[in-house]
Amino acid sequence: MNKNNSLHEIVLKPLTKIYINDMITFANDIRVAQSCHLPYPFTLKNAQEIVTKSMHEQERQKGLHFAICQKEQFVGVINLGSMPKRDQVFWLSYWVGFPFWGQGFASTAVTKLLDSIKRENKVSKVYTAVWDGNGASKHILQKNGFKKSRCRLGGQDYHNRFRNEKVWEMLLQITK
Ligand SMILES: CC(C)(COP(=O)(O)OP(=O)(O)OC[C@H]1O[C@@H](n2cnc3c(N)ncnc32)[C@H](O)[C@@H]1OP(=O)(O)O)[C@@H](O)C(=O)NCCC(=O)NCCS
Repeated sequence: MNKNNSLHEIVLKPLTKIYINDMITFANDIRVAQSCHLPYPFTLKNAQEIVTKSMHEQERQKGLHFAICQKEQFVGVINLGSMPKRDQVFWLSYWVGFPFWGQGFASTAVTKLLDSIKRENKVSKVYTAVWDGNGASKHILQKNGFKKSRCRLGGQDYHNRFRNEKVWEMLLQITK
């Protein structure tokens, strides 16, 4: 595995319209979409809707949405969205463009985002879900302190991708 030796250069930048073209370039890839929430094919309209929703949530402090960048190079996206009717409970998701896999980008982005919310003390729990076949993502979550909370069979969510396959719900308890 080609580990990136300049992980300290990874920065999380607010997800805005300037990343729309990069998002299309790297998200419109079945290798990326097949294990996460992204639609495939991933179109200009999809990118515009995600960015508009992200900017709206950021302004209202209902979520944190970042482009993962190495210096000026976009490599992926990480989101922490609020969960309806659940104060201080958030939902984590992330993806990295295929050319950048295996270099520590997702691990570093998850750690950086969690470190920043722990400092701010406004989040009590972070949930996410991961398809059982996504070994890399399960590993990233576990090394960042997430615990398996329950296993269910996938349904119509995730564009039907995990229908009848095991999906792990994972929880990071930050404050009691
Ligand atoms: C999953 C994904 C985010 C990983 O991104 P990445 O930048 O390649 O991940 P990293 O390089 O930071 O870390 C991968 C880790 O998983 C480990 N790993 C890789 N394949 C693995 C496997 N099959 N089983 C267990 N661990 C695995 C690596 O060794 C590495 O761990 P280490 O740093 O402790 O050695 C990326 O592949 C992706 O975007 N996939 C499509 C979208 C997706 O699945 N998003 C997450 C949805 S829950």
